[in-house]
Amino acid sequence: MGTREYWCDWYDVQGRLLDGFDKGKGDGVLLVDIGGGKGHDLQAFDERFGAEGNGKEGVLVLQEMKEVLQGIGEGDLDAKAMKMVYDFFTPQRVKGARAYFLHHILHDWSDKYCHLILKNIREAMTPGYSKLLIHNLVLPDTGTSEIQA
Ligand SMILES: C[S@@+](CC[C@H](N)C(=O)[O-])C[C@H]1O[C@@H](n2cnc3c(N)ncnc32)[C@H](O)[C@@H]1O
Repeated sequence: MGTREYWCDWYDVQGRLLDGFDKGKGDGVLLVDIGGGKGHDLQAFDERFGAEGNGKEGVLVLQEMKEVLQGIGEGDLDAKAMKMVYDFFTPQRVKGARAYFLHHILHDWSDKYCHLILKNIREAMTPGYSKLLIHNLVLPDTGTSEIQA
């Protein structure tokens, strides 16, 4: 995936996220990257759609395990992202954000745990405003290649 375009290069960020984003809702949070690793997706997002690019000044939140966040060195993450220790099996700490993002998370967990992750997000979402973005491979029922499986 590292060699591919970032999701925000092909997703309609302007039309689906920025249009309709309301700084007065959800503490002004535009995007929460749940289990976002060291923040490479938020970095790319900020470079393309950060406050300087769109004037929206939405808050970006990187949620990860403590050990991962501690591994982010000085200068590794330029994005103006708020780093937040968070376990996605617990109630979502950021309520009513514009968007919650799961990149390469769900494939690691069985249905039981995926349901819990999704339930925690659902309970934090504001109906009609918040969006859930799932970035994962969707496999066909048959004919899946070994590399995909
Ligand atoms: C496959 S990586 C994906 C990272 C990033 N989203 C990406 O696409 O590059 C899965 C991530 O989930 C994080 N993770 C695992 N369990 C977690 C938990 N209970 N709460 C929050 N993050 C967790 C890991 O630390 C890891 O960074």
